[in-house]
Amino acid sequence: MMKKPSVLVARAIFPEVLQQLQSVFEVDHNQNDEILSPAQLHARLQGKAGALTTGSERIDGPLLNACQGLKIVANMAVGYNNFDVEAMTRAGVLATNTPDVLTETTADFGFALLMATARRVCESEHFLRAGLWTKWRYDMFAGAEVHGSTLGIIGMGRIGQGIARRAAHGFGMQVIYHNRSRLAPEVEAECKARYVDKATLLREADHVMLVVPYSAQSHHTIGAHELALMKPTATLVNIARGGIVDDAALAQALRERRIAAAGLDVYEGEPQVHPDLLTVPNVVLTPHIASATTRTRMAMAQLAADNLMDYLLRGQARTPINPEVVQ
Ligand code: 8YV
Repeated sequence: MMKKPSVLVARAIFPEVLQQLQSVFEVDHNQNDEILSPAQLHARLQGKAGALTTGSERIDGPLLNACQGLKIVANMAVGYNNFDVEAMTRAGVLATNTPDVLTETTADFGFALLMATARRVCESEHFLRAGLWTKWRYDMFAGAEVHGSTLGIIGMGRIGQGIARRAAHGFGMQVIYHNRSRLAPEVEAECKARYVDKATLLREADHVMLVVPYSAQSHHTIGAHELALMKPTATLVNIARGGIVDDAALAQALRERRIAAAGLDVYEGEPQVHPDLLTVPNVVLTPHIASATTRTRMAMAQLAADNLMDYLLRGQARTPINPEVVQ
């Protein structure tokens, strides 16, 4: 009988998805969910044909040089800044991600964070829990208007467009956006979104939403200079990646009330959070959960597993990032 290919599942995963993988592969799993150091990842990848990773495992040239039998790494995430895709292509290793299945869920969360930030939901909850609510006041936790205001979206891919549709059609907002390339006129019309340069977006928006993928070019898309262009009443929401915002500069701007508030799901160096962000009141902080509904996380895990199975058993993955490896 042919030996089953061996794969590593680098983090804990839904048991039913693990079982599917175990029916066709020798699986080295990590259901205890211990974060693997680079050295542990290197050791566990020896002899493996495939790996299922999350954003916490870095796949780069030195690692690939030491893992000659590796054919595919399937990321359970749409973002893949934990991959050095060029090095993977050079090494003939297929990279896959999980687009589409999380688009609407993540767009929902962008809105959840926008609403919570603009309407000061968390700040007011802490106040109530601390027993500070002894009387009502006319300006108690008065926040910023969402409906009818101007939303600036930086990064107008699938998730950005989902947010724009919610904003324009559901909340009657004016949507302006900035992107590497301008969208086709019919997509702009459907999203009711107007293309502007970045500085105009920062000056005009009442709320700024970041949905841009992380790369060397998008590092610190928002720093002290950009924060200074924003309205003092504006809110900033980051559901993209840590490193898109200069967190230290943001904490300072929030403390000095140079912008009104921020909502963050992602951080530079997460799961560490810049200590200054933990002490300013006008920021809503969530632990990278924008895609976290049970159904969507299951769909992401299933797609990552399908990529592994389809490629290693049938030679064709569903959502390759570097399809040139297969030709
Ligand atoms: C993931 C994400 O939860 O898909 C992405 O890019 O940021 C999240 O949906 C996270 O990266 C885990 O892999």
